[in-house]
Amino acid sequence: MEPYRIKVVEPIPVTTREQRQAALARVHHNLFDLRADEVTVDLLTDSGTGALSAAQLAAAMDGDESYAGSRSFHRFHDTVRELTGYPHILPVHQGRAAERLLTATLLGPGKLFLSNTHFDTLRANVALCGGEAWDLPCPEAADLDSAEPFKGNIDTTRLKAVLDGPDGARVGAVIMTLTNNGGGGQPVSMANLTLTSALCREHGVPLILDAARFAENAWLVTQREPAHREHSPRQVAEAAFRLADGCVMSAKKDGIAHIGGFLGLHDTELARRCELLLIATEGFPTYGGLAGRDLDMVARGLHEVTDPRYLRARAEDTAYLADLVRAAGVDIVEPPGLHALYLNAGRLLPHIPPHRFPGQALACRLYLEGGIRGVELGSLYLGTEDEQGAPLTSAPYELLRLAIPRRTYTRGHFDHVGRALARVARDAHLVPGLRITEQPAFLRQFRSRLAPVDV
Ligand SMILES: Cc1ncc(COP(=O)(O)O)c(C=O)c1O
Repeated sequence: MEPYRIKVVEPIPVTTREQRQAALARVHHNLFDLRADEVTVDLLTDSGTGALSAAQLAAAMDGDESYAGSRSFHRFHDTVRELTGYPHILPVHQGRAAERLLTATLLGPGKLFLSNTHFDTLRANVALCGGEAWDLPCPEAADLDSAEPFKGNIDTTRLKAVLDGPDGARVGAVIMTLTNNGGGGQPVSMANLTLTSALCREHGVPLILDAARFAENAWLVTQREPAHREHSPRQVAEAAFRLADGCVMSAKKDGIAHIGGFLGLHDTELARRCELLLIATEGFPTYGGLAGRDLDMVARGLHEVTDPRYLRARAEDTAYLADLVRAAGVDIVEPPGLHALYLNAGRLLPHIPPHRFPGQALACRLYLEGGIRGVELGSLYLGTEDEQGAPLTSAPYELLRLAIPRRTYTRGHFDHVGRALARVARDAHLVPGLRITEQPAFLRQFRSRLAPVDV
């Protein structure tokens, strides 16, 4: 059971099918443009959407809003330093700001980042700095249905080949995303991280963790990697940070905060360069774009998030929803992790080709059916077309991600999702595809407009 009870509640909107139909038309089938009060169960993201604890709110009251050298910063700094072991801790307003500092400092034209899978904001930051982002997921990641425990791993054979080969000199850093959000929320094993760390040290390349879900990764390590069965999630997390040279962190996930993040680094010279950029773009290094109260809430959240009772309850909640999804006849990326389920929309809607966006079509139909909002991870996100709209590249899989905010929804809400999804799946053949009517130059999944199309 959950190791907490509910003290404060927030009503959720309930809408009619007609209202949802009108909302879908108004937002041109782009669910990012819905008003939150048009959404009943919001599974768009687990980022900044969790419930705060009483202790976090109490810590916020104690926030010190001094511009420089606040008590809040020192509490935040000491907590992060103890967890990660990094001597240089730069607070930022959210994860992508840490990514921006790092890419602007380590990259330049012709430089490379290698990763198990880059998260999309990191990929965009690499491109903005003139670099290239190469994903090297392990071969097991290609089989969505297998129960392999660590499908988030990097392919160390390919990593070694790149580092040893002619492109080795171009590598600015290796990034390990824990857990691998772009790769189905799958975890990375400590064995894989250890090997990657050794390869990076051998080649003099920094290893950086994208640590947004470090605690969830650590939990899955304790459950799935025999060598760590006796360790606590906190011990595994501390060891993981110490295998790397630094981290970028979105505290909106495993900081269980509404805003915040940090860049942690070992290298003093690199930290100094990032710090100057931080002052120019985010704020003075003792607040980095955050209020003192935010720093305190993150510090408290970082302690709460590795509580094994919290992590177990979260894993079991996700497993409960996974059972409902499977019972509705919808396949997911197996085995489920903690922060999200990735539904195989391509398989559920075989009549919709990739460039008629089955993931987005399923997202819209689930919204219409139950007021539930998820996010497409398929060819709307990763595909490209030519100027006439003819497909050029497709995503490897057409998925719909249902992310689970921390400590926010109950199993009653999940039952509602299960029932709505079962109705959608029963009439899956009736779900129309979508075509793009308008799109921006990049990050199109956020700003495109779409219209239903008969397939
Ligand atoms: C793995 C990962 N890295 C980085 C980010 C970016 O963090 P933020 O949204 O705080 O900028 C996210 C956000 O979803 C993420 O999932």
